[in-house]
Amino acid sequence: MQRICFFLLLCFPTLVFAAASQIPLDKVKIDPRDQASLQRGAKLYVNYCQGCHSLQFMRYNRMAVDLGIVDTDGKAHTHLVKNNLIFTGSKLHEPMLNGMSEEEAARWFGMVPPDLSLITRVRGPNWVYSYLRSFYADASRPWGTNNLVFNDVSMPNVLLELQGEQVPIYRTEVTKAPGGASREVQVLDHLELAKPGSMQPQAFDSAMRDLVNFLAYVAEPVKLERQRIGYWVIGFLIVFLVVVYLLKKEYWKDVKNK
Ligand code: HEC
Repeated sequence: MQRICFFLLLCFPTLVFAAASQIPLDKVKIDPRDQASLQRGAKLYVNYCQGCHSLQFMRYNRMAVDLGIVDTDGKAHTHLVKNNLIFTGSKLHEPMLNGMSEEEAARWFGMVPPDLSLITRVRGPNWVYSYLRSFYADASRPWGTNNLVFNDVSMPNVLLELQGEQVPIYRTEVTKAPGGASREVQVLDHLELAKPGSMQPQAFDSAMRDLVNFLAYVAEPVKLERQRIGYWVIGFLIVFLVVVYLLKKEYWKDVKNK
């Protein structure tokens, strides 16, 4: 029996993950072609996230060119980038690091906030989107906040002023103990907006989509290029297939006739 279970787990690894995460994730649509969304996401990122997190694999000038923040020569628009996206005193060609030292971060948060260059590839865009929308008030935590998809998180809710304050709503579930006695447990059911923020819920969701879209771009800046080259490669293979097929027919014609 054990062997069968092991075999089934090997065949369906997703079953294991499904059991580990019970919170259904919200879906987000990523579109690397939507430059306006990427620009809004970059602005949110430098204003709300870069104080603590770094993007060590992305340089300001590369981002500016990819996001269409360019001058008439097609180069990064120095003035626009310096005034709107660089708040750390970095140069245009430097990577997007944060302004905080690792010792300070460890003292304040108990850990160094992770680099977010590859976060959407590690966690997936849906997880990051759900995470950013799932902070809720929890007086038992040091920063007075907790997160539905990341229990006991040590990141403060930096989006509080935009989203407003969410509070947890619990439901009572009856569970049966092995001895037969049943007991009631409180299970977190969903979050409710108790105090509105400066953004309407829909506008906040759309802003978080922009932010995740930007982080997904940072995680794979060459995605559009890769897809474009992919079409050419497939096209070439199809043409090549026809040539090879005709060649094969030509060779076998002689073999068959003998
Ligand atoms: C005040 C500092 C601070 C700011 C500002 C901040 N974070 Fe964080 N963040 C942290 C810390 C600390 C952690 C580590 C949490 C943990 O592991 O418990 C973290 C963790 C995360 C994680 C989870 C990483 C993982 O372990 O998978 C994500 C995603 C994230 N932050 C995204 C963001 C985004 C997006 C913003 C901007 C809206 C932001 N953070 C702003 C401090 C910050």
